[in-house]
Amino acid sequence: MPIKFNNKTKEFHIMNKHISYIFKILENGQLGHLYFGSTISHVEDFSYMEFVPHRGLSICSFEDNLSFSLEHIMQEYPCYGTSDFSEGVYQIKQKNGSIITDFRYDSHVVFMGKKKIDHGKMPGTFGEDNEVTTLEILLHDDVINADMILSYTIFENLPVIARHTRWVNKSDDCIRLTRALSANFHFDNSSYELVHLSGAWIRERHIEREKITSGIKSIGSTRGASSANHNPFMALCESNATEDNGRVYGFALVYSGSFYGGCEVSTHGTTRISMGIQPFNFEWKLEKNECFCTPEMLCVYSEQGFSAMTHTYHKLFKNHLMRGRWKDKPSPILINNWEATYFGFDEESIIKIAQEAKALGVELFVLDDGWFGNRNDDKTSLGDWFVNKSKLPSGIGGLGKKLVEDIGIEFGLWFEPEMISVDSDLFRQHPEWRIETPMRKASHGRNQFVLNFTNEEVIDYIFEKLAKIFRCSPISYVKWDMNRNISECYGSNLMNDCQGEFFHRYILGVYSLYEKLITEFPYILFESCASGGGRFDAGMLYFAPQGWISDDTDAVERLKIQYGTSMIYPLRSMGSHVSDVPNHQVIRNTSFSTRANVAYFGTFGYELNPLSLSEDEKLQMKKQIDWMKKYRNLIQYGLFYRLKSPFEGDGNIVAWMVVSEDKTRAILGVYQVLSRPNPNRTRIILKGLEGQKVYKIGASERQGDSLMSFGISLNDVFTGVNVSHVMEIIKGGSAFGKFGIGDFSSEIFEIVEKGREEYDIKNK
Ligand code: GLA
Repeated sequence: MPIKFNNKTKEFHIMNKHISYIFKILENGQLGHLYFGSTISHVEDFSYMEFVPHRGLSICSFEDNLSFSLEHIMQEYPCYGTSDFSEGVYQIKQKNGSIITDFRYDSHVVFMGKKKIDHGKMPGTFGEDNEVTTLEILLHDDVINADMILSYTIFENLPVIARHTRWVNKSDDCIRLTRALSANFHFDNSSYELVHLSGAWIRERHIEREKITSGIKSIGSTRGASSANHNPFMALCESNATEDNGRVYGFALVYSGSFYGGCEVSTHGTTRISMGIQPFNFEWKLEKNECFCTPEMLCVYSEQGFSAMTHTYHKLFKNHLMRGRWKDKPSPILINNWEATYFGFDEESIIKIAQEAKALGVELFVLDDGWFGNRNDDKTSLGDWFVNKSKLPSGIGGLGKKLVEDIGIEFGLWFEPEMISVDSDLFRQHPEWRIETPMRKASHGRNQFVLNFTNEEVIDYIFEKLAKIFRCSPISYVKWDMNRNISECYGSNLMNDCQGEFFHRYILGVYSLYEKLITEFPYILFESCASGGGRFDAGMLYFAPQGWISDDTDAVERLKIQYGTSMIYPLRSMGSHVSDVPNHQVIRNTSFSTRANVAYFGTFGYELNPLSLSEDEKLQMKKQIDWMKKYRNLIQYGLFYRLKSPFEGDGNIVAWMVVSEDKTRAILGVYQVLSRPNPNRTRIILKGLEGQKVYKIGASERQGDSLMSFGISLNDVFTGVNVSHVMEIIKGGSAFGKFGIGDFSSEIFEIVEKGREEYDIKNK
């Protein structure tokens, strides 16, 4: 049993072969934290870990005891107000106006397996009875007669603790949760750095790393979506931690709505990390017997730096969070018409693109925005999910038939289910379904407004509209977009004193629509999108195994975005495409090969018009697709290693690689941003191979240990002295394609164990 309780010492020890998590019931009945780190042999008494300092001027819980102060004791789930002066992780407002609570240990249960979060209304990790064990601790507050249940799950083979919290109001009086974070992780020192993923639209999830100091540093979103600005992920690492060394604690929230992540360092040098639903503007009313459940927070421990943390999250998400038949299948290679046509397409042009794409090996055609209502620009028709016959006279069913049966390509369709345009039949029929605050002007975003997804009637209506299309057309993929955040939040269907529930109810509505759709249409592959990566989070992965990580399709910008996203999200989930040049977001010209060399490390697809490619480019495209078909299993399901960061040093050379579980194959990608005059030598040190194996890399043979110690040298330093070389480049009209001799150049290296060249790569 990986969870032990010692009735004498009142200590809990949650353990597996990687981690130990130890805490106890304190004298006052609350839970005190003792240890979280690598596995410690179980003993009957861990009291040597306790630290109850006698600090002057403390506020104390017991008479004749000047030490027991919650301000100074490490806690599992602290709250403000008794003798702790931090904001705490939860707060309950009571009938008499008080916010003081005192939840004390009542009982606990340990069971194999794991319950669904909020009875399945929220995403969460899962596992078979032999894979996960759960501890639930019931605490009770006598004065308000409410239960608080802290849940801890440990995974058999992963250094992961999954936590969330529930409350049940048992009294006749209503109580209000005004702060309900999922969990708190308490550390007895502050010698850490904080890592998080921040950005904005078209530059999502850049890695930021900073020292922590006294006070609160927080990230979060108040936008109704997890956002492009901050991702619901944080990590604490030792200051010397690297990709391969040092202790790292990762924290991810399985949630897609407004969230909060806080790192609080006390003036006595302890650190608390908490994450959960954004407390700003949050309030949840609990009447008698009503229950509230937080999202799940996933903490990963690594003693070998960020790389090991990444591998754990990738495995955890792939095996215990993503669902459906698509999670184990590599993603189909798709072409999306958005950047090829924007709104300006008709059936004929779509058919031509699809035919050409099919001839080049593409497997799925995705019809993006503009196929419905009167949508010829972004001012109209959101909510009118019926086909625009003037563009597509055969309808979606007819087009689908032509694509799937005649051309032999799969068919995918774009939707933006949560949105409404004022110029739409839906708005004319149901203006009250738009989110707006009474008597106030509603602000638009990209000319559009948001539907009130806290209202089940709205969700049922949208479900029927989408389902009708899915039922009578051969759609096997859906891109679910969400192109603005929520302002003037208010639910006309909610009581006045329940408006603080709006944002959480909204995201529960989104989840419920997803659930209904994947239940009725389990064969459809959903790709989530929110102007690119505006809602790319662990919550979404539960419903959609892949997400469009950014509207920025420039290969150079993508180096940062993909590098940052890979911190916790598997390559299988990262939507990445080759697009046209000059790039539509940053007007940069990069070579066709570099664009593909970056996009390979994700789901892979195209966002361009193949009809406007030259014959040579078409040939390249065909080769790229053939190459990806050969290697996608390895890339999307292998172990990913970051080798050279775009965020460190001058970030000019970037490298990453994927290695098969059995270490017989690997793919290495190396990228140069700008060509430097007379540069220093660069060596790329590989990872994850077997030291004693001999590998073929290009024309050479190298020992694994040498590849992982000396690495490979980027010898092809171009200093401009080789005149014939210059002439060759000038004649070719391009400096692209050969690593080391041009801006935005790149190279992919295939690495295979000697003697295994013919081994079936598809099974890797
Ligand atoms: C968003 C998406 C794009 C595209 C457009 C269509 O910006 O991220 O990929 O689908 O919407 O309007």
